[in-house]
Amino acid sequence: MSAELLEAQGKLSKRGFLDLEVDPTLDLFEEIEKLKKEKNAIILAHYYQEGDIQDIADYTGDSLGLSQQAAETDADIIVFAGVHFMAETAKILSPSKKVLLPDLKAGCSLAESCPAPVFKKFKEKHPDHVVVSYINCTAALKTMTDIVCTSTNAVHIIESIPKDKPILFAPDRNLGAYLKKKTGRDMLLWNGACMVHEIFSHEKIVKLQQRHPNAKFIAHPECEAHILDMADYIGSTSGLLRYTIENEATEFIVATEAGILHQMEKKSPHKTFLPAPPNNTCACNDCPHMKLNTMEKLYLCMKYEQPEITLPEHIIKEAVKPIDRMLEISAKAGL
Ligand code: 13P
Ligand code: SF4
Repeated sequence: MSAELLEAQGKLSKRGFLDLEVDPTLDLFEEIEKLKKEKNAIILAHYYQEGDIQDIADYTGDSLGLSQQAAETDADIIVFAGVHFMAETAKILSPSKKVLLPDLKAGCSLAESCPAPVFKKFKEKHPDHVVVSYINCTAALKTMTDIVCTSTNAVHIIESIPKDKPILFAPDRNLGAYLKKKTGRDMLLWNGACMVHEIFSHEKIVKLQQRHPNAKFIAHPECEAHILDMADYIGSTSGLLRYTIENEATEFIVATEAGILHQMEKKSPHKTFLPAPPNNTCACNDCPHMKLNTMEKLYLCMKYEQPEITLPEHIIKEAVKPIDRMLEISAKAGL
């Protein structure tokens, strides 16, 4: 092993990625394609990744689609271009495969808002409740969960639970409130939120709508209720994308992470997509965790097969149960 790599590995634990120089003359698209073939590796990318990463990926999709791909792939290596909880989910679903994440520090404010030991005490106070956890949570939290859900299947998951059963929902209070309203179910909500979906400004969106009176306003259910109340359509990233393809409108104001605009523009090049304005001076809705992954880090992680996601066997054994339940319910619903 080269001295350079050894040094970079030393930094890995502190920085979360292989801190090596990448030759700027390299065609990273070509190099990554070569590594994929050489190592029988598959790249799974979330819609919130930067455009180049979405384009080089073998599959780009939402949290549900990515989990389904991770469960089914026959690749030897899964390279997850997303955040930590997503790569963990891939490892739980395919424990015999090597799962790589270009930057280990690509976390999630929502997952971090629900520490497993604190949730355990909350759950103990409500032993009669069925625990539904949004997939945006840690593997430890999944071990305390009855059924996992994503934003695509959340309504189906809630409706699959017998009507007389109260539900404890974690960690997203906004998605939880949306589900409570939509299904009319008795749900106790954990008080967590996504930092990206809580920054949209009602006032600025109204002003933008005045300038674009024909634009449809579409929002992800992780947004706050006062933003969702304004929406023409509410859905997961794949739902939002489908809506923009199928709807005859030619302008859309989009309230979710800005990475999804890449696919919307690709699928409907003649339409206009405007990111919903946030409550701050920055004009972007980028998730700082998702955007930690870069083409350079992706290339290095494939070349050296690090950083790797590992999980204790007992966590995998327990965490896979609520994810499998979710996949079964989704398959029955044709999702
Ligand atoms: P979906 O992929 O289910 O739309 O969720 C978006 C998200 O916040 C992922 O971090
Ligand atoms: Fe987490 Fe929000 Fe980023 Fe998704 S967009 S990874 S929920 S912080």
